[in-house]
Amino acid sequence: MNEFPRSTPQSAALDPTGVTALVTGCAGFIGSHLCERLLSLGCSVIGVDCLTTYYEVALKKRNLAAFQSHPRFRLINDPILQTEPHLAQNADWIFHLAAQPGVRASWGTDFETYVTNNIVSTQYLLEHAAASSRLQRFVYASSSSVYGDISADHFSEECRTAPFSPYGVTKLAAEHLCAVYASNFGLPASALRFFTVFGPRQRPDMAFHRLISAALQGSEFPLYGDGTQQRDFTFVQDIIQALLLAAQAKGPFEVFNIGGGHVVSMNDVIATVEEILGTPIRIARHPAQAGDVRRTSADISKARLMLGYGPRTSLQEGLTAQIEYLTARAAAV
Ligand code: NAD
Ligand code: UGA
Repeated sequence: MNEFPRSTPQSAALDPTGVTALVTGCAGFIGSHLCERLLSLGCSVIGVDCLTTYYEVALKKRNLAAFQSHPRFRLINDPILQTEPHLAQNADWIFHLAAQPGVRASWGTDFETYVTNNIVSTQYLLEHAAASSRLQRFVYASSSSVYGDISADHFSEECRTAPFSPYGVTKLAAEHLCAVYASNFGLPASALRFFTVFGPRQRPDMAFHRLISAALQGSEFPLYGDGTQQRDFTFVQDIIQALLLAAQAKGPFEVFNIGGGHVVSMNDVIATVEEILGTPIRIARHPAQAGDVRRTSADISKARLMLGYGPRTSLQEGLTAQIEYLTARAAAV
């Protein structure tokens, strides 16, 4: 699929070679892939990331190393709340990916960090973005966690939002903030609800990273619950495709589900990784975790219709890419 389909009514006539993109969370899992893709398309990229300690800073530095010395990349190594207003005003596209992620860690006193990084920082960025005369699109990285533990077969954007974790509450609040800035000030914005993203550079707190690492090291994978919980797993390059398509969209504020089309259980994923690697994985069983939902499943028909989005990567292909990445990383240590 062409990521720059200029003939459709919703796509901007922007030549990506002239575009300046602001990417918050540029050192993270998804943000680093996005920066690489934007640079390869000819964009200039300003990346904001304060390298939070939610997981090893060394991993974020490794992510950055792939593109940090690119002549069209500039890193602002500060928290969003300390960035200059003009940063948001000198960009054609803003991709707001910085956040405190993690569903299960968002309880207790840690919630304050979620509020600061996910809600207060988003409002700060929106305030400055709304004053921009240059901005073409503000794309916010929302989450399937805004739906909570609902029973619908497929989650459409029309389904009720009832977050099941404090993290989900902050992601929904930030989504509402985007809508409020769009309706009051005409901010050209969209929110993409990503469904559990996987692939190279996946965060080390996430299931696939832990599972593959356990398989490669012969250590135990901590399985929460009975393994029948299901997720609509989405390969990171499909997420990047959606981000680029959303940046070119015109029109009022919209929310889009971005899923991968792989609704499978953790038990199925464990079996698939065992099959790919040809080795059994040792499982340590733990109780189901507070905040975890039983199932997610994205209805992506709206993103297909309005953005031209369609996931292209099978679970097997995506898992193989993540296994190759983690194998190469282990060999390099
Ligand atoms: P990540 O933690 O790898 O990346 C986020 C980056 O943001 C980190 O490098 C962190 O240092 C930075 N950051 C956090 N707060 C900041 C602040 N206040 N100022 C500057 N930098 C800050 O996470 P990820 O998995 O790449 O997720 C990216 C986005 O996508 C997040 O908004 C997350 O909520 C959303 N999302 C992710 C998934 C997923 O499965 N990974 C699914 C749904 C939504
Ligand atoms: C993921 C991301 O971590 C969130 O940032 C994001 O917002 C969310 O997707 C989303 O789609 O909105 P999650 O679905 O919990 O959250 O993704 P994983 O951490 O990969 O967990 C998937 C499943 O594996 C969950 O049921 C979890 O309980 C389980 N798991 C995870 C384990 O059994 N063991 C682990 O060590 C980690």
